[in-house]
Amino acid sequence: MVAITCIDDLKRLHRARTPRMFYDYAESGSYTEQTFRDNSDDFSRIRLRQKVAVDMSGRSTRSEMIGLPVAMPVGLAPVGLTGMQHADGEILAARAAENFGVPFTLSTMSICSIEDVATHCSAPFMFQLYVMKDQEFLEAIINRAKAVNCSALVLTLDLQILGQRHKDLKNGLSAPPKLTLPTMMNLATKWAWGFEMLKTKRRSFGNIVGHAKGVGDTSSLSSWTAEQFDEKLDWDKIARIRDMWGGKLILKGILDPDDARMAADFGADAIVVSNHGGRQLDGAVSSIRMLPQIVKAVGDQVEIHMDGGIRSGQDVLKALALGADATWIGRAFIHGLGAMGEAGVTTALDIIRKELDTTMALCGERHVNDLGLQNLLVENGFF
Ligand code: FNR
Repeated sequence: MVAITCIDDLKRLHRARTPRMFYDYAESGSYTEQTFRDNSDDFSRIRLRQKVAVDMSGRSTRSEMIGLPVAMPVGLAPVGLTGMQHADGEILAARAAENFGVPFTLSTMSICSIEDVATHCSAPFMFQLYVMKDQEFLEAIINRAKAVNCSALVLTLDLQILGQRHKDLKNGLSAPPKLTLPTMMNLATKWAWGFEMLKTKRRSFGNIVGHAKGVGDTSSLSSWTAEQFDEKLDWDKIARIRDMWGGKLILKGILDPDDARMAADFGADAIVVSNHGGRQLDGAVSSIRMLPQIVKAVGDQVEIHMDGGIRSGQDVLKALALGADATWIGRAFIHGLGAMGEAGVTTALDIIRKELDTTMALCGERHVNDLGLQNLLVENGFF
């Protein structure tokens, strides 16, 4: 077997080992996928400043995210259907994150439930909430996250209506997969995935089954989302959710400086500069390109995290140098999970940490918290 040396290697293995509909679900953006592509492409336009003859010993990538110590400022972003990329995927990813010393975020749309993850992990994890119309369900799920001491509530603001992803519709995405002829033919070639999946009982949405109406019958995730998610979500409702929750609150999906000011004035503990990995507003600017303006607007008021397009430690360094306090990864860890389960997530984190460390050294920096504009070549027109 060829050595795994970068996230792209994990991506290739993920593609080979996971049923087509779930690989496509991860590796796609909405509509033309312009924003999905820009998220990564814009990182590659940023150039770093090489520094020599600087003492680079005693380096550290250790930092803090929302007041908690982390081995590096890279969290695992909430990813729906993680438990379809690999059986028990959310538990495996949460365990890998815990052992590595970085935070894990459980999606509302996960396969393993809040309780499943809490039972199998000891580190507190963050819970990501999609706001649904059903008030009883909303209160119940917030209380479930409270009951297991989730470290923060991550409120996703950029998906009250679903940006269309062509491949999901064409593939008839569902969890568990519907057994049509093309699906069965594809599943037959992914026997290891199927074998692991048969061993677990967790094959459908663990957090919402039995709470939200109709989920068991839905053949299409997008029409189900359209029925359930609250299109009326506004700052008043966000305030009510904050009061129901009472703990640390992270607002995810901020891409505009005015929205960032609203979020900062609102008193969020952190914001995540994000366009949902290019899965929502196609044509929106990449997160990394928007980051400097948001840092300028609220950098001294609120902790700023960013995600979208990070596939390496070099990308993490660029985001931190542009003023992010921390970063999150989605597909980078999902490729690891689909490729090799828990070991794959650990491998992804390890690759990124080593790349970050080496890149820091070659930029002449010893501590991740010291990165800044001094590490970038600003003449190349990116800003
Ligand atoms: C996501 N994302 C996401 N975000 C969220 O708040 N709740 C969710 O359930 C999901 N689900 C989801 C599924 C898949 C397959 C992907 C790829 C992404 C968005 C995610 O949290 C994050 O913002 C992006 O993944 C970041 O971009 P990269 O790192 O994947 O490029």
